[in-house]
Amino acid sequence: MFNLILFGPPGSGKGTQSDKIVEKYGLVHLSTGNLLRHEIATKTPLGLEAKSFIDKGQLVPDEVVIGMIDTCLQQNADAKGFLFDGFPRTAAQAVALDKLLSLRKTSISKVIALEVTEEELVKRLLKRGETSGRSDDTDEAIIRKRFAVYKNETEPVADHYKKLDKFVSIKGEGTIDDIFQAICQSIEAEMTAQQEA
Ligand code: AP5
Repeated sequence: MFNLILFGPPGSGKGTQSDKIVEKYGLVHLSTGNLLRHEIATKTPLGLEAKSFIDKGQLVPDEVVIGMIDTCLQQNADAKGFLFDGFPRTAAQAVALDKLLSLRKTSISKVIALEVTEEELVKRLLKRGETSGRSDDTDEAIIRKRFAVYKNETEPVADHYKKLDKFVSIKGEGTIDDIFQAICQSIEAEMTAQQEA
């Protein structure tokens, strides 16, 4: 199995690049942000609970998102690999993901981080907020709060994967296609290394 984490701050292009990666490599896309927005749109109790956190730029509690990922892994037992987008975002989520994957006799193959300056991120998110209707994109104060949460709670998760020698950073500014090419090179280098191991 090939299991990839696309890592990076809000607006770094995780969703944009994920669509291209899953199309090319046939991985199952697991985006906790998309899953939570679906719960909100269909007005489930989980969605109502999640909305109160998302609208404030805070993280949804670990047990909620870990439970969602567990369910998705069970529903896709025959997948040839997964692309995790927006997960894990805390140390507890990273530990839980390792456990869930090891129960399935697999593990994370690679973590690719997209690096983008904060100025560019704010510009992208405010622009998207004009048309997407995402409640967490319209207010600059909420966007700044999401960056603070990323710095304090999510950035340290990178160390977990650096220690395992699974982590690479890629410049997330430039054309979408150029960034995708750089991601593909990294994925294919890791796939070759897995085959030769
Ligand atoms: P989530 O949906 O994961 O949002 P995020 O991480 O804040 O990321 P975004 O979707 O905003 O950005 P992205 O990196 O996917 O970039 P995109 O491709 O869209 O999470 C939302 C909320 O849900 C969280 O705040 C939290 O409350 C909750 N949540 C989610 N997961 C959770 C978890 N694991 N634990 C707890 N809570 C969780 O691109 C952004 C914009 O830029 C787009 O308009 C795009 O067109 C544009 N763009 C992309 N690439 C480029 C480029 N190269 N040049 C110019 N523009 C570009």
